[in-house]
Parts: sequence; C-alpha cells; structure tokens
Amino acid sequence: MQSVGTRRYFLPHGAEVEIFSALEELSFATAKRFQELARQAIARKNFFASALSGGTTPKRLYELLAQKRFQIPWDRVHLFQVDERCVPPDHAESNYRMVREALLSRVALPEGHFHRMLGERTDREEAARQYARELTQWLSPKSGEWPRFDLIFLGMGSDGHTASLFPGSPALGEQSRAVSPNFTPKLTTERLTLTYPVLNAAEEIIFLVSGSEKAEALHQVLEGRADPARYPAQGIRPINGCLRWFVDEAAARTLHHPAEGSP
Ligand code: 6PG
Repeated sequence: MQSVGTRRYFLPHGAEVEIFSALEELSFATAKRFQELARQAIARKNFFASALSGGTTPKRLYELLAQKRFQIPWDRVHLFQVDERCVPPDHAESNYRMVREALLSRVALPEGHFHRMLGERTDREEAARQYARELTQWLSPKSGEWPRFDLIFLGMGSDGHTASLFPGSPALGEQSRAVSPNFTPKLTTERLTLTYPVLNAAEEIIFLVSGSEKAEALHQVLEGRADPARYPAQGIRPINGCLRWFVDEAAARTLHHPAEGSP
C-alpha cells in the first residue's frame, strides 16, 4: 500500500509508520486508504463505519474525500465523531462544523448517517451515555464486546494527546464506558471523547500527524519511554487491529527511524 516517494517502516509493536513529503500527499494517501477500506467493508458486510477526529490536520483529507475522484459508496457509510468540544454545532470550535463544511455539505451522505456528538448539551454525562447507546445501536457489538469501527482517524496534539484524551486527564483511566466527558486544566472547555477501550477495539486506526510543532511529541510517543499518562497517544494499541502513523517530513524530523527502504 506504500505510496510513491514515501518512506515506510514498522515499529517493534507492529505499528506502521509512513513518512510523506507534506500534508497534501499524506491526505491523498489517506483518502485512498479510506476508499479501499470502505469498498472492502461494504463488499463484505454492506456497511462501513468510520470515526473522524476534529482539529485542523484532517480537514484536507475530508475535502479530498468529497471529490468525485474518490468513488465512495456514501449510502452504505456511517460516520461518527472521535470527540467534540462542548460548544454548539455552529460554533467556530465545533469539530462537527469543520466536518460539515469540509465534507458533509459536499457529498450525498444519507440523512441519519452522520452521528453527531451532542456537545452543546449541558448534561455532559447524559450526552456521553446517549452517544454510547448510538454506537451500540449502529455497530451492534456482540455481548460483552466493545463497538468496533472499521476505521478511526486520530490526530495528535503537540502535547501528545489524542482524541480528547489529554495528559493526566480523568478519562485516560476510563475502562467501563465507550464515551466520556473529559476536562483538562489547560483548556477552558469540557470535551466529549471516545475512550481507549472503544478506540482500541477498531479494525484499523490511522494517525495523521503534520507539522514541525508535533516533532518532539511524535518522537516521544513512537520512540520514547512508555508513559501514556504523559503521552496519551501511546495508549492507542488496537487489540485486534492495524495501527498506522501517516506523518509528514516536518513532524518526522527528529525520528531516529531505520534506514530508508528498510522492510
Ligand atoms: C480535537 C481533536 C484533537 C486533535 C489534535 C490535533 O478535538 O481537536 O480531536 O485530538 O486531533 O488536537 O489537532 P490538530 O490537527 O489541529 O493539530
């Protein structure tokens, strides 16, 4: 699956790292992977469920997915959110608003196929419970199992957070709920986030990391001492799934990765 002009290698725990020249190439390769996985899942079970992160990095990916050159069977696709800020859906900080502008407003995704986290609800615990019910309803996990996404896109902050799992935050320890409110002293607003159990239940997880400001955190997460409380992205280890890191040269500049072209 390696794209032309990139470098790819594998980490000891099996995760794949692919280094792209820039965000555009990274986003294009990711859109191709989304198309491939969607087609495979729909051929197999007539359904494809993906969870989307917010922030800025994945915006270009979402814009590309809206382009006709990517033939996505949207009528068999269900999209969910990885996390959401506790703001109204039309707020500048809303992850839903970014996805709506970049993707949903440009594709024929049927009504009810985008599952929005209700960040605007003042009762955050009830909003988390409601979203967990929606995951169970649509992903129909076997009894005693976590809802399993076909594909999850994750970002990583320059502090090593992912989703809305921030360093030292309460939701890092959540092992009994799929969705949780979370708060971190650094941020003024609360968040809703998928938790490690449901993230790590995914079939495939792709991290999208771009920019030199992420370089130190990426080095620590991929090559540093295991400390997920300090670097929450380290806590992403799919139990029975594939983990890929799609990063650009700027974010990878301090990685001590193996020589180019190594298997
Ligand atoms: C969010 C995201 C968050 C994001 C990282 C990276 O709600 O902001 O879900 O986890 O992926 O903060 O954000 P950037 O892509 O903007 O660097």
